[in-house]
Amino acid sequence: MAQKTVRCLVTAGPTQEYFDPVRFISNPSSGKMGWHIAKAAREIGWETTLILGPSALSDPDGVKTVRVVSAQDMLEESEKAFEKCDILIMAAAVCDVRPKLKVGHKVKKGEIPLTVELERTPDILLTLSKKKKEQILIGFAAETRNLVEYAKEKLEQKNLDAIVANIVGGKSSGFGSDSNEIVLIMRSGEIIDFNPAEKKTLASHLIKFVSTKFGLEK
Ligand code: PMT
Repeated sequence: MAQKTVRCLVTAGPTQEYFDPVRFISNPSSGKMGWHIAKAAREIGWETTLILGPSALSDPDGVKTVRVVSAQDMLEESEKAFEKCDILIMAAAVCDVRPKLKVGHKVKKGEIPLTVELERTPDILLTLSKKKKEQILIGFAAETRNLVEYAKEKLEQKNLDAIVANIVGGKSSGFGSDSNEIVLIMRSGEIIDFNPAEKKTLASHLIKFVSTKFGLEK
């Protein structure tokens, strides 16, 4: 009997949290890690949707790509796609905070408040994990220290099946670079240490590993 096609949802890139039409809070995510994951998922035959924050990258071939700007946009698009997915891989670097002030016109330089009040953005992964039925949820944890310990805390807090712990802050790993260093932590406690490599290579290894581990092969 033919197996059902796996439906994969990937998020990638930063979010931008504007306080007027020309100024925002963001982070240096390029979208590369999640983009390569979406491409690798497509290449093993999964029907893949990529929700991509502001990024210079083009749409990966064969992947339904939805472009968003803010954490709120990413939440709304992710919620729409989540119900129909079998596996979510959340590689986006969602801004944790946004300015409370939001105006529709460019604020005059002299009128910009020097202390900007912030509020938390929605936690997309936590929101989706509360709606989880059969979906497999894999988060990312970007850390500059205590990699495994902090990542495990996020795995628990967000009720994930696994988390990719990503060391960030160096030149050859994390935000913006073409290469990366990641460790996959399973809910069972099993730790899979991938060799540092190009994001493209790591994405392919990660998808193949996850596919086998969760029994998603065709
Ligand atoms: O895009 P690149 O330049 O290739 O860089 C890749 C990367 C470093 C951005 C990527 O590999 C990575 O580590 N992504 C996760 C970054 C992050 O925001 O980590 P976090 O530890 O702050 O968040 C933990 C998890 O919660 C993540 O899966 C994140 O997507 C999610 N989250 C965070 C905040 C929020 N408001 N909602 C969320 O869903």
